[in-house]
Amino acid sequence: MFVELHRSGIATDNVEDRHGVLTLPTTDVVRPAGKVLVVDDEAANVKLLKALLTREGYTVVTACDGEEALAMVASTHPDLVLMDVLMPKLSGYEVCERIKHNPATRLTPVVLITALHEREHKIQGITAGADDFLTKPVDPHELRARAHSLVRLKRYTDDLDSAESVIMSLALVIEARDAYTDGHCQRLAAYATLFGTALNLSEEEIGALFRGGYLHDIGKVGIPDAILLKAGRLTVSEYEQIKSHPVIGDRLCGELRSLRQVRPIVRHHHERLDGSGYPDGLKGDDIPLLAQIMGIVDVYDAITTKRPYKSAGTSDEAHAELLHEVQRGWRHKGLVETFISLKIEPSLAGGSRP
Ligand SMILES: [Fe+2]
Repeated sequence: MFVELHRSGIATDNVEDRHGVLTLPTTDVVRPAGKVLVVDDEAANVKLLKALLTREGYTVVTACDGEEALAMVASTHPDLVLMDVLMPKLSGYEVCERIKHNPATRLTPVVLITALHEREHKIQGITAGADDFLTKPVDPHELRARAHSLVRLKRYTDDLDSAESVIMSLALVIEARDAYTDGHCQRLAAYATLFGTALNLSEEEIGALFRGGYLHDIGKVGIPDAILLKAGRLTVSEYEQIKSHPVIGDRLCGELRSLRQVRPIVRHHHERLDGSGYPDGLKGDDIPLLAQIMGIVDVYDAITTKRPYKSAGTSDEAHAELLHEVQRGWRHKGLVETFISLKIEPSLAGGSRP
């Protein structure tokens, strides 16, 4: 695939003007400039902005009112929305607010374009979640600079999301290696988020529990099948290898910013309050709360599902084991009691992979 660049370094999709055009292979450095949604009820304004942005190499899609804008955001996934404030039906503020309240679109940058200079209009825009403002008549240099920096930021967060989705897919591949753990990740994500909700944790923490349900055992990718799937008793050295999965998983999550709160779950879900767990032998409150939660639901799921060497146990049997582990000093009494009070059923999350 090739893109065309003017000698000035400005990308363009104008293939008719061949004068001074270089053809370069697409690399990580040379990417299409991005997609911009222009929203304005004045056709002349749309035409002007479209011409300016197209000249800069952007793909431009347009909408003439707020409702159409929301539909376009959902269907075309723009990297930037440039939107007039005063429009029929929905105002720019209302559209901006809806974009920012939808988890699927909240990271899409929105620039409000207004002829209104008053302070309260700007405050209203900021309250609606606008990322920036442009004043009519739009200065082409200002437009170029704002569009460039906001699209770059959007691309950066998209790349983070992509990296996270690769890791999430990898977790499901690992689960698929072992037929007997089918649905384990999905169930843990469901149990842990219910548990977190009952504990009044923040939205961010509950999100981490959901991801942690999928990712907690991702380090098992580094354990050979011969050990991971071994039907008989493990040797001491094989068990030591299994015990390395939290550290391998922690390393795999690496420096992904979006997994910052998930990493402690991955690393510490096998720790015990008395320090007899692994990999770090943490004690008491040093074990992150989210990791303690995952440890509890992991035990519950292990007991209530069928394995090659045992049939599925009941919820009561799993609760009894958890209380036994409280007595041994491995688990937090209050947390286990709260979990039991939720009366979660083993069939809650089903057994099928999403
Ligand atoms: Fe584990």
